[in-house]
Parts: sequence; C-alpha cells; structure tokens
Amino acid sequence: MKCKRCRRAEAAVELPSHHAAFCPDCFFHFFRRQVTEGIRKLRLLAPEDRILVCVSGGKDSLVLWDVLIDEGYKTEGLYIDLGIDGYSDRSKEKVLAYAASRGKTPIVVELAKEGVPIPEAARCVRMQECSICGTVKRYFFNRVAAEGMFTVVATGHNLDDETARLLGNLLHWQRDHLARQHPLLPGAGGGLVRKVKPLWRVSEVETAAYGFLKGIDYVTEECPLSFDATSLVYKEALSLIEDRMPGTRIVFYKGFLDPSNPLRKGPEPAAPSDAVPRPEDAPVADVALAAEVDSEEGVGAPRACASCGAPTYSETCSFCRLKERVRKARSLRAAKVSR
Ligand code: AMP
Ligand code: FES
Repeated sequence: MKCKRCRRAEAAVELPSHHAAFCPDCFFHFFRRQVTEGIRKLRLLAPEDRILVCVSGGKDSLVLWDVLIDEGYKTEGLYIDLGIDGYSDRSKEKVLAYAASRGKTPIVVELAKEGVPIPEAARCVRMQECSICGTVKRYFFNRVAAEGMFTVVATGHNLDDETARLLGNLLHWQRDHLARQHPLLPGAGGGLVRKVKPLWRVSEVETAAYGFLKGIDYVTEECPLSFDATSLVYKEALSLIEDRMPGTRIVFYKGFLDPSNPLRKGPEPAAPSDAVPRPEDAPVADVALAAEVDSEEGVGAPRACASCGAPTYSETCSFCRLKERVRKARSLRAAKVSR
C-alpha cells in the first residue's frame, strides 16, 4: 500500500481511525502535528515555558520528550528511581541513554535515598505498591518542578490512558474525578505547578510506532508491581470497540472535553487566570491540582506542609505522613530484631 500523504513511498503504518496509512517520514509529520495541535487547542504550553518532562523509560514519556525537543521547547527530564529490583535500573539506563543521545542529563531522584523505596514502603505500611507509588511520584514531580523554577510538568499519558480513566470514572460515576480530569491542570499559588499531558490526542499504538521508527530504545516490560488490573480491563474494552469502530476513542474523549459538557464543571468557580494563558474549558484550578499533587480533597487555598512545605490540605502532606509511617515501622522492626 502506498503512503496516503506523499503517494510515493510504501506505507509503514496503517491508521484505521484516521482512514490513513503513512510512510515513516509522513508518519513523523502526522504524529508531530497531532501532538502540536493537542498542545495548541488546549493551550497546554507556551514557547517561554521551562518544561519538566517526567520520563519513566517507557515509550510514551521518551517519545513525548523527543517531540518536545524537536519542536524547540525548553525541556529537562526527571527520572524517579522507584527502587524496584532490576526494573528500576533497566528503566534508568534507557532514560540516561536517550538523554545522552540528545545532549541532556536528566534529574534523577532515588527513592531509596529519600527513605521510601516503593517495595519496602508498601510492605511497611501494608498498602498496594501502586497507590503509594502514585502519591510519591506526584509529590516529586511537583517538588522538583517548584524547586527548579520549572513553569510546567509534562507527563506521557496518551489517549488510551485518558479514555480508560474516563471510562472508569463514568462507570462508577466519580463526578468529582470527572470534573477535574483534563490534559491541563492549571497551577496555583503555594508551589502548585501546572501539569500537562501533551500526548492526549495520540494512541498507544501511534506512540509505539513513532518510538520504534525513530529508533528510540525504551523499556517494553511492565512494572512487576503493577497490579492495576482495572485500568487494563478498561483499555481492553475500549480496544475491542476501537477495532470494530475505528475512531471511537478520540470521539469519546473529545466529546468529554467539550466545554459545554456539564460533567466537567467543577464544584467551585474557576480561579483567577494563571501566569500562562489557560483555555476557557480548563478544569477548576487550584482545588483540582492540589488534589492531584497531594491526593487529598480540599476546598480553598492549600497550606504549606508543616514538615516539608509542600502544598497540602492537612497539617502535613500525604508524602510526609507516608514517610513517617515507614520510619516508625522500620524502627519497630529493628527493635523487635534486637530483642
Ligand atoms: P504511569 O503512571 O506509570 O502510567 O506513567 C504515567 C506517566 O508518568 C509517564 O508517561 C511518565 O511521564 C510519568 N512517570 C511514570 N513513572 C515515572 C518515573 N519513574 N519517573 C518519572 N516519570 C514517571
Ligand atoms: Fe508504580 Fe510500578 S508500582 S510503576
């Protein structure tokens, strides 16, 4: 089959949802355009932004970094070493190798040094690794960005991630989650940095094809501690529908983002505009982002955590509370051993 764009080269990627098939060069053009249109339509980024790109070593975040660099944005990468045997080292290697190929040195946070390596922390507080992992990652995304004077945090969530989350929120009628689900969570005072998901218009298959054709070396294995079976079920269900009715995913998500969609209206009036222009259809500002950062619900302005100064709605933030519980569990165990 010939490429539908240049009509000369052989097509390498077929995209039924766009009724298209592209040769590698035309696919690169198409993919980058999808991302830049996604950024432009929702005004996710401005040329003067300093972007902290959170890179896990997986395809989505490395592809995101690649596109943002190619588009001329000012970016730095952040890798969080979760302390997961083997997997974390392999992921870090991919991040370091990619960064070096673009003349960059990523910021690396080692959770073992921070006192909360995920597997041990989860054992200590008897919680699921994934939920602790989410809290800790969000905390460091925001903290590194605030300390490094970054204007925005970017993550590699793609259309499949966002529609799976949307389906889950709809099936359980999580109205508060629906109200704040959006590729842009505006920043607010008190050290809350804006968060964006510039890959919201591109699917997992498209991102994987872009990474593969560009020769980006990424980790293909899933996190060994990831038991988040529910999001996989939603993804599978949506893939089944997408296979039969190509284009359903993007229609589903764009319809949800429509400013007139009443499900997306937050419980509070929108906060004053951010430093960087924000779209009229952005979610409620500080309440939404603070909840994302601290995984806690709250109303009004967040305060500074008594222990680390991070924005929170409690006396101390959820990260410091977790760290304290881990510390106590460790000393209890040490006391038992020495008896
Ligand atoms: P996940 O929650 O694992 O689906 O990852 C979603 C996004 O979070 C990725 O696309 C990355 O942008 C970011 N991310 C996940 N894990 C890490 C990590 N260990 N270090 C830095 N960023 C990460
Ligand atoms: Fe978070 Fe595996 S537990 S990525």
